[in-house]
Amino acid sequence: MNAAQTSHQLPIPNGWFAVAWSRDVEAGQVEKVHCFGRDLVLFRTRAGKAVLVDAYCPHLGAHLAVGGRVVGETLRCPFHGWRFDETGRCVEIPHCKTIPPLARLKSWDVVERNDMIFAWHHAEEKPPDWEVPTIGVIGHPDWTPPRRVDIDVAVHLQELAENNFDPAHFEVVHGTPAPPPSEYEYGQNGRFVRAVSQMQRETPMGTFDTRLVRETFGLGLSTVVSEGLPGVGTMLFVSVSPLDATHSRMRWLLTVTKNVADTLGEDFMSGIVKGVMDDVPIWESKIHRANPVMCETDKNIAEFRRWTRQFYSSVGDV
Ligand code: FES
Ligand SMILES: [Fe+2]
Repeated sequence: MNAAQTSHQLPIPNGWFAVAWSRDVEAGQVEKVHCFGRDLVLFRTRAGKAVLVDAYCPHLGAHLAVGGRVVGETLRCPFHGWRFDETGRCVEIPHCKTIPPLARLKSWDVVERNDMIFAWHHAEEKPPDWEVPTIGVIGHPDWTPPRRVDIDVAVHLQELAENNFDPAHFEVVHGTPAPPPSEYEYGQNGRFVRAVSQMQRETPMGTFDTRLVRETFGLGLSTVVSEGLPGVGTMLFVSVSPLDATHSRMRWLLTVTKNVADTLGEDFMSGIVKGVMDDVPIWESKIHRANPVMCETDKNIAEFRRWTRQFYSSVGDV
């Protein structure tokens, strides 16, 4: 292979990532999940707690979502009926008094908010060191019930996150006017970035100076808010999860203030979906260059890449 074609495979980053929409897992339900390059099982106990465990039983290896059932607060293996609690500990083996100490499953740290169930992934099994933000307007009575979209893309999630820090591609890929002036602010223990772009918006009510505010939490969660249109509130919450190192699932949730015509929310969402569809063929066919040739408009990308290093256990070129 020509040296110039050498690509670099990024590992799966550490952080909080969505594994499901909350409403898709009801009490008593058991679901297969493939995320972080692993087979997992997500279930909701009868009391309503979402639990994520490794998929294969420590006994003879049955997949716990293939016939496994929720019994009270436990998950019962479909093969010999061992039962596991929310910590992954085996709490009952039929006809056995003693439970072997190794009879346990890895149980993942889980939080549920913003209509999604998130799991903490860390390559070295370190505990969570930042929190999934709570988006107050999701479920707020003045805001519309959120619209949801799921899109799978065959690319490492860092390429999707990098898009926000790449103003130069907006003109070429998305047909927007020249790159808007943008400011980036890194803060909150370093896990958070806020990007603000100034742009003029033409609407039927006139032309307004608006600000597009994008906040990024870890590698994979972000909010996009448009400010400056009088009386109009929009909130897009974006979650990107690593199905494995080369496949990502985007989950988008959009809500707008109820005073806005409902079609505006629909138009807004379909506009964003169209925008991402413009990016997809580029993402799915590109290679990752750890040391790209950069030009003077790329300084935000360079800064973003330095920031991303904290989310990888194996420190290398990212
Ligand atoms: S394989 Fe799960 S109980 Fe035997
Ligand atoms: Fe883009």
